[in-house]
Amino acid sequence: MAKRRTTYACECGQQVPQWAGRCPGCGSWGTLQPRVGSAASPVGAPSSPVQALGGIDDDPRVSTGSPGVDRVLGGGLVTSSVTLLAGEPGIGKSTLLLQLVANLSAAGLPCLLASGEESRGQVAARARRLGIPADAVAFVPGRDLRPLLDVARAERPFLLAVDSIQTLRDPDASQIPGGVGQVRACTDALVGLAKSEGIAVLITGHVTKDGDLAGPRTLEHAVDAVLSFDGDPRSGMRMLTGGKNRFGAEGEVAWFEMSTDGLREVDPASFLVTGLGEVGCAVALPRVGRRALAVEVQALVSPTEGAARRQASGVDARRFSLVAAVLDRAGVNLARADLFGASSGGLRVDDPACDLAIAASLASAATGVAAPPDAAFVGEVALTGVVRPVAAMEQRLAAARASGIARVFAPVERGGRSHDFDVVPVHRLTDAIAWSATSRRRAASA
Ligand code: TYD
Ligand code: MG
Repeated sequence: MAKRRTTYACECGQQVPQWAGRCPGCGSWGTLQPRVGSAASPVGAPSSPVQALGGIDDDPRVSTGSPGVDRVLGGGLVTSSVTLLAGEPGIGKSTLLLQLVANLSAAGLPCLLASGEESRGQVAARARRLGIPADAVAFVPGRDLRPLLDVARAERPFLLAVDSIQTLRDPDASQIPGGVGQVRACTDALVGLAKSEGIAVLITGHVTKDGDLAGPRTLEHAVDAVLSFDGDPRSGMRMLTGGKNRFGAEGEVAWFEMSTDGLREVDPASFLVTGLGEVGCAVALPRVGRRALAVEVQALVSPTEGAARRQASGVDARRFSLVAAVLDRAGVNLARADLFGASSGGLRVDDPACDLAIAASLASAATGVAAPPDAAFVGEVALTGVVRPVAAMEQRLAAARASGIARVFAPVERGGRSHDFDVVPVHRLTDAIAWSATSRRRAASA
């Protein structure tokens, strides 16, 4: 006789093949009840494991209370999903995790915060600093995997937040906490918990300076979504980027400022361009994730008798040196000088489209003439000094417009006014730095 199958149904009519704490249809908790032999598979015999895909809706999304985080997640958290929040130590992972837990708890969605990084007292102190009421967060120690899984199964929270995967320990895995085997075993167990119990799991993970997850990148395969938290820990600016995402598009970005009372979402247009009209500054229009942004790049040229240094932070060091060499060949004397390059907020801009802005900032710093105050510079500089076109020009122009830029130097065939812009056509590098030429002529004749 064919085996009768058990499905689970909610009062709202939603039927699911597996039990979950929360109904994916209406979002109610604890309403799914077993029904034996009800839903026959629409494909094949009732006992067939083959099922049609019809009748399965998109995974419902739950807002984290942070519009930026929701956007990067692809619309909010998904029940039964596992999300990794990866970033360097000190970037603000624990702060973001606590703020999200507080938001969700305040919205009536029970959360458990498991920390192996910090004690209950330390988490309470952070909560006080963030203005989160002490009772709003349910804390559980997060060093030992087994008791943590037991608590999560018993409590069935909407969200289990784990800080961090590197401090969690599975007694059945032989290695030390943070090792590849441990991290993999603990992640697998948390994925199993999420899928079997219908709990959303959010895990923090440390990455090293060169962007590798301390322990293994293999962890990324096991989870449903990876969010990267970046920025210069010395500046307040933070960028949250969506990486792999089984439920949404990659590359969405949200911006935050780390203030004295936690992370606040900000509009990057308001703080990445601050030095317009200053000597040594130029505005670039890089693509960061799926967006284009107006970002200021800065250069300092300091004459030296010794071996000349080139040092760059934020901007790509190799491209910085290359652009400086091409600029030197084009007549801006940089050979006997230390050169320093940076981007505003320490934002990592490695888009080759920033080359022309790097060149403009160096030309300005070398000659003491400020670049036109309302201008941005876009284009990739070839070794020959020719400026190459770049992709997504419309998107870059829109970013410029949002930052109050009125003129864009770019490798376009025909210039002129486009929308509210003057687009200045540039063929060679020297076309884009003509404004610095008077001073260069003066320097050359001195
Ligand atoms: P943290 O969230 O502990 O980083 P991570 O978990 O990624 O290691 O935050 C680290 C830094 O943030 C720490 O140096 C202090 C600072 N901070 C603030 O500036 N404002 C705040 O409100 C909080 C909670 C932290
Ligand atoms: Mg931390």
